[in-house]
Amino acid sequence: MSAPEARAVLRADYTPYPWQIESTHLHFELTEEDTLVHARLVVRRLADTPAGASLVLQGRALETLSLSIDGVPLTPEAWSQQGEELHVQVPDGACFEFFSVVRIHPASNTSLMGLYRSSGLLCTQCEPEGFRRITWYPDRPDVLSRFRVTLDALRTRYPVLLANGNPVERTDLGDSRHRVVWEDPFPKPAYLFALVAGELACLEDSFTTCSGREVALQIYSAPADADRLGHAMVSLKHAMRWDEENYGREYDLDIFMIVAVADFNMGAMENKGLNIFNAAALLASPETATDVAWQRIEAIVAHEYFHNWSGNRVTCRDWFQLSLKEGFTVFRDAQFSADMNSPTLKRIQDVNRLRTAQFAEDAGPMAHPIRPDSYLEIANFYTMTIYEKGAEVIRMLRTLLGAEGFRQGSDLYFARHDGQAATCDDFLQAMADATGTDLTGFARWYAQAGTPRLTVRGEWLAAEHCYRVHLAQRCLPTPGQVEKQPFVIPVALALFGADGKAIETTDGQGASVAERVVVLEQAEQSFEFHGVQEVPVLSVLRGFSAPVMVAQDCTRDELAFLIRHETDGFNRWDAAQRLGVQVLQEMIAALAAGKRAEADPILLQSLGAVLADETLDLALCAELLVLPGEHYLAGLGEAVDVDLIRRARDALRRAIQAAHSETMRQRYLTLHAASCAEPYLANGGQIARRALQGVLLGYLVLAADDDALALCVAQYQTAHNLTLRLGALGALLNAPTDASGYETARVQLRADFAERHASVAQVMDSWFAVQAGCVAGDAVARVRRLILDPRFSLRNPNRARAVIGSFCANLPAFHRRDGEGYRFLCEQVLAADALNPQLSGRMVSPLTQWRRHDAPRQQAMLASLESLKTQGGLSRDLYEIVSKSLSIQ
Ligand code: TRP
Ligand code: ZN
Repeated sequence: MSAPEARAVLRADYTPYPWQIESTHLHFELTEEDTLVHARLVVRRLADTPAGASLVLQGRALETLSLSIDGVPLTPEAWSQQGEELHVQVPDGACFEFFSVVRIHPASNTSLMGLYRSSGLLCTQCEPEGFRRITWYPDRPDVLSRFRVTLDALRTRYPVLLANGNPVERTDLGDSRHRVVWEDPFPKPAYLFALVAGELACLEDSFTTCSGREVALQIYSAPADADRLGHAMVSLKHAMRWDEENYGREYDLDIFMIVAVADFNMGAMENKGLNIFNAAALLASPETATDVAWQRIEAIVAHEYFHNWSGNRVTCRDWFQLSLKEGFTVFRDAQFSADMNSPTLKRIQDVNRLRTAQFAEDAGPMAHPIRPDSYLEIANFYTMTIYEKGAEVIRMLRTLLGAEGFRQGSDLYFARHDGQAATCDDFLQAMADATGTDLTGFARWYAQAGTPRLTVRGEWLAAEHCYRVHLAQRCLPTPGQVEKQPFVIPVALALFGADGKAIETTDGQGASVAERVVVLEQAEQSFEFHGVQEVPVLSVLRGFSAPVMVAQDCTRDELAFLIRHETDGFNRWDAAQRLGVQVLQEMIAALAAGKRAEADPILLQSLGAVLADETLDLALCAELLVLPGEHYLAGLGEAVDVDLIRRARDALRRAIQAAHSETMRQRYLTLHAASCAEPYLANGGQIARRALQGVLLGYLVLAADDDALALCVAQYQTAHNLTLRLGALGALLNAPTDASGYETARVQLRADFAERHASVAQVMDSWFAVQAGCVAGDAVARVRRLILDPRFSLRNPNRARAVIGSFCANLPAFHRRDGEGYRFLCEQVLAADALNPQLSGRMVSPLTQWRRHDAPRQQAMLASLESLKTQGGLSRDLYEIVSKSLSIQ
């Protein structure tokens, strides 16, 4: 056992904090090197707190200068330190004041938790347990307190001083120092505390809430980035209005601030009244943000804003309840994005990510329910499961309760728990009470890990004009959970007739409907549809109505039929994915047997029809043309060989391109001409057009001829936005050729891009990423060169992920047979671990997936994990993931 203090925290061990912290007064004397933090906590004894109970506070990497109670310094016998805990003997009375003074070192804090320096700024990140790096405190989410914060700093270096709530005092301290005092009227847990100090530009606007209150909106960034804040402001105002209209949630302070920082472990943070964002999740202009980034920014601005109610006004009792705020808020931001853009596209993108990354997590050594039962390091549980599967569970609730019932449940939840630290059970109880529904079966989604497999079989009873759907579910064991109870699974389905139209059948209430949602609650159940006059084509799990895998024997003709006729956009896309999976798996099997891999004509025809259909939404067309991804395919089989997946997918892409090259070329040229002719707008129509343009260029370069080269260069040169410029560079770098024309263009455009965008970190991230993820040539050698670039640094998580994350996503490169990819990753993980454990914990995750791969690779991956484990001195974050990955062999 090499990690210190690696003791599991258990959900079952929860006990309430025995003290109330009525108010928290913090006084910061801010400097980069040595910040002094004076803290005064007004503490009140709770009714049941026994005499003699001590005050327990957490602290980490604090240099404690003084401790006192009610003005009297603590004697050495009056306190003790046990690991991260300070145990203090306190007076018997009902109330006392605890004072501490500590020194901390923001400039050398590379963990990006607590108070740290980012570029010239000082900023904080406290969720989940970063506040203990700032001062001694009950650093747990169920301790809510009113905060008053005094910030003192040099005016020249830190002209702007921000904290939560409202500014209540500004003072010149002389000596070129100044002071700003902030007061937050809403009691909050420490993880929502924030401060920012530095030289910042600000975009200001205002918002009038539904009850007529005026809220000042301020979005801050480094002065050089100030011209890239407009999109965030528009997104914020949309989000504020949307939450009023859709959830009845009004903003509650007079001021709402957002600050962009360059170094940040995640996307953004919902600190009360003062959201802090990863600059990449906030700053946008046509030249510096792709369409994907543009939409991501809108979603994250909304996500953090929505937390003001789902997270801040109602917070979490303990970190096991994390999905209470995250799952619900992701669901809310997904609804918002769907309303602002295309619901179908949003659904396709979300499900694709869920099925690729979350299903992998659920099948691996870190599998956990959306409400986990134990952890070593909570920072490791900001996962796809908590966030994305958590959102799917909320979505199923809405499907089961109906939009109206769900809204009533949400209203009741907010009313009942406002100002409290709540649990997932509280949320379910509010939903149950508001609608009179029994949700005890549904609650298993919170307790059980793993992805259920839904087996579907249809049976037409001709004589009875009845179609019977047999559904069965099964969930494989996950670590610590062998037996699973049946899940409650809403399954949306429709039947299609030979004419391509949905068949109306009679639902439970006697109404005639084209879509029905049946609810599978047992291991197996059958459902009947009456008045069906012909053998229908069954379309299940429309809209991805539950986070499950589907096993259904569909013929390729049926899938091709659904690609043509399904009216549910998501299932239409999914039919194409399923057809793609069938064909690719057949091709992989052929290659494994040493045979030629033939492309299936039905698939070629289907995609040909998609391509030829000019009435089809361009964005959906783009999605339909993208074959199932390598990662998704790798998750479907056992002991896969990633080289065969790559070869089969390449062969099929090449066959599609060869079969439709002329249509593709014509459509591409039309789109390209339109892109050149119109000024850039980030609207749905243009985003869809650029998406299809990108997909088509990706196909056209597979020909690796002079024509495709010319298209890439022309798109690069004429692009007046990052989406098309980066798309052209990516297509060029990934073209399967090293012909000299291509090589020359690569060198030129790669250099041009770096020069053009040298000053914008987010664009340089994409420059690193596109090279690190490039499929051509010796990827390990290339990525080893990239990390020697002076602009590369593991201290910046965005840059680290751009290079190392993109490299690992390139499966055949990362899984090189000689193990060089694994060795490279381990080196980087260890280097990162010494700086930033949250980063190393995330970086190592590709190795957790060892079980998916063929035997030699499994051995090499396990050996890598062993070598990490034997290193000693690992962070708790890294230790947890490495040791759990090794413990399920
Ligand atoms: N609550 C944040 C969100 O989901 C998550 C977050 C931001 C976070 N920064 C973090 C989690 C640092 C862990 C560590 O919006
Ligand atoms: Zn969140």
